[in-house]
Amino acid sequence: MLETIRDMIEALEVPQTRHAVIVHAPVVLSMLAALVALLAAICRKNLTLRWGAAAVFAALLGSAFLATNSGEDAEHSMGQISTKAHRMVHEHEELAETVWIFSAIGLGLTGLAFLKKPKGVGVMSAWGATAVGIASAGWVANTAHHGGKLVYSFGVGTPNPEIDEPPIPQSALDAITDPRARFFLTDVRPVFMDRCVGCHSGLEPEHGLDVTSIASLMHLDMDYGRAIVPGAPERSVMMKVINWDSGYEEKMPPRGDALQPEQIAAIEQWIRDGAVWLDPPTE
Ligand code: HEC
Repeated sequence: MLETIRDMIEALEVPQTRHAVIVHAPVVLSMLAALVALLAAICRKNLTLRWGAAAVFAALLGSAFLATNSGEDAEHSMGQISTKAHRMVHEHEELAETVWIFSAIGLGLTGLAFLKKPKGVGVMSAWGATAVGIASAGWVANTAHHGGKLVYSFGVGTPNPEIDEPPIPQSALDAITDPRARFFLTDVRPVFMDRCVGCHSGLEPEHGLDVTSIASLMHLDMDYGRAIVPGAPERSVMMKVINWDSGYEEKMPPRGDALQPEQIAAIEQWIRDGAVWLDPPTE
């Protein structure tokens, strides 16, 4: 039990985890704000509801502040990510920052709802606060969805998925006659398994591209050609995405460091030599 609590507290020290936990607060509070503001507008006489609406908007403002702050920490400790993921992080940030404005307006309106004069201002403000509450709930949901996409589609902030493949025994490697196939197994496939397979394999590989299948690598149309054109690394989209200086928009892997120069060189050489593929021998 104590162990579990300690693990939980330790996990919160990781900025990404902390952000993931904190962002639930504005999600819940924005929905609560919409609900309580609505009830306060309907039951105009009920002072508790009126104060309640103000309190929830104030809490939403505070939680939006904490969420944005923790998001910034998460962003700073994220390491390198692709240009596209980066742009999405910024959009997510802008969406998130707007939550403040919503909650501040909501808070102001719940304050105005206390006014008795001039006539009608109180009622209008109460309904205004309701509208702002509903709008912020929608806005927060959109922001959260956007953040979720960053995590699930771009892997931003998640640990590197690892696929542990047992090393191929030397005897099995020695039995392979084609040196290009051996090179693939020793120098190329491990890079795919280590840095790509977490997103590019399984039932729903990203972009439909499965790095555990030569058919997928050679035949699938990418945005600008095939991932691999045997014999022609300069025409292979894979080379453009792993070579971050190529000027190509997508950069793979989209998070973590770029591949090592020798890993890129190995993949390039492998493609130039005809992209000979061999499934690892099973014993
Ligand atoms: C964290 C998940 C993730 C990892 C790891 C990853 N990719 Fe991707 N990859 C994506 C996503 C998402 C897309 C689709 C991007 C888009 O369409 O905007 C993509 C697209 C691609 C494309 C198609 C690009 C295009 O413009 O058509 C190639 C090629 C590719 N990845 C290769 C790789 C290689 C090689 C590795 C390993 C060195 C790798 N990826 C690692 C998520 C990942």
